[in-house]
Parts: sequence; structure tokens; C-alpha cells
Amino acid sequence: MKEVQELSREEAAKELAELAAKIAKADNEYYQNDAPDLTDADYDALKHRNAQIEALFPDLIRADSPSKRVGSAVLSRFGKIEHRFPMLSLGDVFSIAEVEDFVLSVKRFLNTSENIAFMAEPKIDGLSFSARYENGMFVSGATRGDGIVGEDITENLKTIKQLPQKLPNGVPNILEVRGEVYMAKSDFFALNEKSLAEHKKIFANPRNAAAGSLRQLNPQITAERKLSIWAYTWGEVSEHQWQTQEQFFDKLKEWGFPVNPLNKVCADITQIEENFKHIMEIRADLPYDIDGVVYKVNSIDLQNRLGFLTRTPRWAIAHKFPAEQALTRINNIRVQVGRTGALTPVADLEPVNVGGVIVSHATLHNEDEIARKDIRIGDMVVVQRAGDVIPQIVEVKLDKRPLNSLPFVFPTVCPECGAHAIREEDEAIRRCTGGLTCPAQAKERLKHFVSKDAFDIVGLGDKVVEEFYGEGILHNPADIFTLEERNQSKADDLFAFSSEKGLELEKREGWGKLSVSNLFAAIRQRRKISLPRFIYALGIPQVGSATALLLAKNYGTFDNLQADMCTRETAKLVAIDGIGGEMAKDIVEFFGEEHNLRVIRELRKYVAVEEYVNDEITDSPLSGKTVVFTGTLTKFTRAEAKAIAQKFGAKVAGSVSAHTDYVIIGADAGSKAKKAAELGVKTLSEEEFKEMIK
Ligand code: IVH
Repeated sequence: MKEVQELSREEAAKELAELAAKIAKADNEYYQNDAPDLTDADYDALKHRNAQIEALFPDLIRADSPSKRVGSAVLSRFGKIEHRFPMLSLGDVFSIAEVEDFVLSVKRFLNTSENIAFMAEPKIDGLSFSARYENGMFVSGATRGDGIVGEDITENLKTIKQLPQKLPNGVPNILEVRGEVYMAKSDFFALNEKSLAEHKKIFANPRNAAAGSLRQLNPQITAERKLSIWAYTWGEVSEHQWQTQEQFFDKLKEWGFPVNPLNKVCADITQIEENFKHIMEIRADLPYDIDGVVYKVNSIDLQNRLGFLTRTPRWAIAHKFPAEQALTRINNIRVQVGRTGALTPVADLEPVNVGGVIVSHATLHNEDEIARKDIRIGDMVVVQRAGDVIPQIVEVKLDKRPLNSLPFVFPTVCPECGAHAIREEDEAIRRCTGGLTCPAQAKERLKHFVSKDAFDIVGLGDKVVEEFYGEGILHNPADIFTLEERNQSKADDLFAFSSEKGLELEKREGWGKLSVSNLFAAIRQRRKISLPRFIYALGIPQVGSATALLLAKNYGTFDNLQADMCTRETAKLVAIDGIGGEMAKDIVEFFGEEHNLRVIRELRKYVAVEEYVNDEITDSPLSGKTVVFTGTLTKFTRAEAKAIAQKFGAKVAGSVSAHTDYVIIGADAGSKAKKAAELGVKTLSEEEFKEMIK
């Protein structure tokens, strides 16, 4: 591409016309789909080029110039809003028996045999929002995002008429109301009909339509779509004026929020079941989509006692409707290789509508599953979708099987790299033994490394990673950090002996100087990274962001974690609430493999991993201490005591050792109390423990 200064008048005019068309197309795509083709960096590069040319040739500025478009305020991304209180999700169950188990676990935690009242609410199939009011005025709104940080959708929420902008006198000074934005079925059909006529994107279901309409960078488009809300919970609140979920709903109604009239208090499991049946029966006739019923402990006091697991409350659960099914044909069976080498068979299906969503692939899990159901290419099968899980095949219609079909033969070599694919004795999964020499594994690891919850490097999307890997530009994560240096042409360097060329990324198709420099800037920014992100980015089997966070909290620094892993012991890991034996084994194994250690060593040459500063209560007498509970506690249940100790910054271990700081002794304590005495570990009575957490 020519420098702007070198453009003739004619060339400038021509390019401005092209840019106007390209940017308009990109805008359109961005608003219509949630996944535009152009990266943010490329988009910004186009806008920048347009501005540069216009600055040199002001008389050529077009009537439809992208720089003139006012109102649409084309941002390249939403702003971020950090939730003061995280927006959590809910655990799922699919049967009344599991709901019963949940109710029992609540009772057990609270150590009561009495019935506990639950609020049962239809589970709205939309997307959640949080609306913040200060002194009765709506000030900001956010999506859920990852639960910690959401997107700033203040302007978009303002276009939803059902959401009050101003609240009556007497509301708490600070009040965050949360709920669901959804699109009514009739509005969804009308929108699709209109889109069809205008050759625009058709949405698969009301949920997608609601998401696509709310997450518009141009709020004017949100305003044109009909969106509705139900309010159902709260975030930060300066003054709690309610003792139960039911009273909260009364307040919400008083303040002008829409509250679902089907919300109902259930006194016991019988009422819960009756209510569920009733909701199932009227489901199809409701003007909006629901995908289950949510149960919340009605008493706020009890909710507080129950507290939270990592991502979900202990006091609420979602009872999902049974899966929806449809009949279709298997066109092909493919075997995919994942980040950890797992070979996963996938069925390509004749696209079919399953409960409102078009399904064209289904997971076949593993080779035993294919053999057990004798699934073959060409078979007619029943596919089902339950909740958000990947569609599955429930049944093969044998009477419809083609005469010439053959059983599927599962490969014993990796379809990507040809290495042996082996299956450990007690494992269901066959794995490629190629490690990082297998292109599929290496590529998937790189993609994971740069993904949003990991290093989040904008500009290195899946497509770019595939390309760069294929051309040998990127092999392992550390290569990302030498990209900039390798990009420079050695020929420019007077002192270089060779005339070797650099990578010259800016000359690649679809790239320019600006997008390359943006990419380098994004990479440079990541030379410092938080501990949880770093751990997650490594791609340790089974370690998602929640576990990475747990590890960060418990070890504080990467060196601590690695040093502990060197011992090859799982004991300390298993002592962490939320990490089980299998996961601990995987983590230790990961750190035992030389190729992983090499990746870590290389990376740390370029990347500084920050120490994790715990946001838990750190100035309590329990913070940083390891405690063990033993005997029967009378003031709390064991689970509750454990949760409290953790909240106050303690690690809770299962057995007494020299590392234990305190043993809290209940009635009839046995061997652990004895061991504490032997080791000289300080013991506390339940009373003394209560004192400490005051
Ligand atoms: S309460 C801590 N109530 O379901 C409790 N959620 O799986 C937070 N949802 O992200 C949620 N209807 O988007 C709650 N009546 C309801 C709901 C509801 C739909 C959605 C919400 C949430 C997801 C959790």
C-alpha cells in the first residue's frame, strides 16, 4: 500500500470510496452478526487510513464518509464494567430426584430437618443484565460477561421501556437490580420476517435475537428491536429492605420493575414438583421462551448462611426441562484432536431444527460410545439438545439403516500427525502420543494460550494462529513474544552480516503496518500477566479458569506452585477445596513432562507473572493459616464452618500435620485432637473459633 503522501488526487478519491464501502460493510456485519469477519485491529486500521487521507485531501471528504457518521458512534468494542458483586450462574439439574437431593443438601448444610421454603421462578431463556441505580437514578448497565467483568450496555438498556429510569423515593441509595433481557416469541418471529424481506441475518432463536439486539454498539438498533425484561435478583445494595426473596419481588413491583407473575413460593418438595409440572404444561403457551425453573431459598438469612461455591450459590439451583429431540441423518464421522491429544469423534449431521436451534454436528464422545450404539455413517439417528450442552445422539434407528453400511473403525493413529494413538487401561479416551509435535495439539494449545480468559491477545485469532503455525512463524507460546523482533528485516540493520529478510507481516494479505503494530502492542502489554491467567493459559488438562484461580489463591506465586509440583506429591493439591484426586494427578503429571517445563521456561524469559494478591479477608487472625476441623460442631455444620474459614483467608485441610496452624475441636473429637497435642499444634474450641471470625 502507498504512503498517504504519495497518493495522487485521483487515487485518493478512489481509495476513499473503497474505504467508505468497506467500512460500511464491516459496520453492517458487526451490527447484524455478533461475529464479524474483520478483526478490531483491521477495522481500526481502515478507519485510520480513511482519516489520514481525509486530512490531506479535505475537499474529497465524501457525503457518506465513515468519519462523518454521527450518532452511530462506531466503537470498536464495548467498554467494560467490573461487577461490584460477581454475577454468578446456577448449577443445573434435570430431574425431580436431583432437586430433592439439592433440597436435602441445603438442609444438611443448615443442619435442620424442617422444611425450607423455596421461591420457584421460571428460568427465562435470555441473557442477564445488571442495572445500577444511584439515588434512585439509573446510572449504568452491564451484561454478565464472565461474571466478574461485563460489557457496558448502559445506552442499550436505556432503550428498553420496561426498565425504569427513575425510582420512587425511599429506595436504597445504591441499588443494583439484575434480571433477564429476552425477546418475546411474537417479536422474534416479526423480526425474522422483516430480516428475511430485507435479506438480513435470520436469528436461530429468541435468545440469540435478544443477545444480538442488546449487544449492539449502536444503541439505535437496540431501540428498534423489541426487548423485554424480568427482574429477579440484586447485586450491590446499600440497605437491604427485605428478608425474603418474596419480599424482594414485592419491592421490585413497588419500584416499577416487571416481575414474573409465575414466581411462586413452595413450602416443600411436593409443591415444588406440582409447580414444575404446571410450568411444563403451560410452557408452550407462554409468550416467551423458558428453559426450566429456578429454585432459591426464600429466606435471605438462610441464603447468607449457605453462601457460595466457586461460581454458583449453594442456595439456588436450576431445574432444566428435559432435552428436545429430532430425527436426522449422519453424513460423516470425523475424529478431532484436541489440545490435550484426546481423539474425539464428531458426527456431521444433515442440519435439523432441534427445539428452535439448527444442529449440524453432534459429539460421539469416544470410541466405546460409537461401538456401544453401533453408530455408522449414513444412519438415521435421534439427536437431542439438553441445556447448553453439545448435541448428542441418543438412538440409532436400525430399521432405517442403509443396507451397505459398515461399522465405524476408530483410528489407532492420530489423524493429524500419524503418531500412535493409545488408550490407557482405565481410560475411555484414546490420545495422540505426538505431544507438541502433533500439529493439532500444538495449534489447539496456541489458540488456548491467546484466548480471552488466557493471554487475551487481540489480533491473534484462531485463523491467524492456524496460518502462522502452518508457515512455521509460531510453534510454541514463547514464539509469540519474539514475533516483533523476528519481523524486522535484518537487511535494515547496517551491522548485520546477512541480508536475511524479517517476517514482514505487514506485507501479508489482509495486514498492514497499523494492524501489525497493533498486534505487537497487544503482545507487549501481555509481558506482564496475572497468575490465574498464566496458569489457565498453560492448558493443563482439567484446569479451567476457576481452578486456575484456586491454584493462584493457594500458592500466591508461580514459583511456589512449581516448587510444590516438583515434589510430585498431590497431597497439598487435594487439600484445596475444589480440587479432586484426578485433577491433582493431571496437574502433577503436567509439571512432570519435560516438554511442558520447556514451554514454561521459555515463556518466563519474556513474561513476568504477577504475584496473586488475595481479595479475601487478609487481616483476620485466620488469613494464611491452615486449619483442621474435628469432632461435632454445635454452632455450625462442618460445611458451613469450612466455608467461613475460607472466607477469612484460611486453608482448610482434612488431616493434622506439622503444617497445621489450628485444629478446631468440637464434641467427641478423636484421633485428630490427639495428633494435634502430639505435634504441639494449637487447638481452638468452637467458641474461640467464633471469636476469631467476629
Ligand atoms: S438467578 C445467583 N433467576 O440463568 C443467582 N437466573 O444459569 C443468579 N436466569 O445467568 C441467577 N431466569 O441468566 C436467576 N429467575 C431467574 C432466572 C435466571 C433465568 C438465567 C440467568 C443466569 C442463568 C444461570
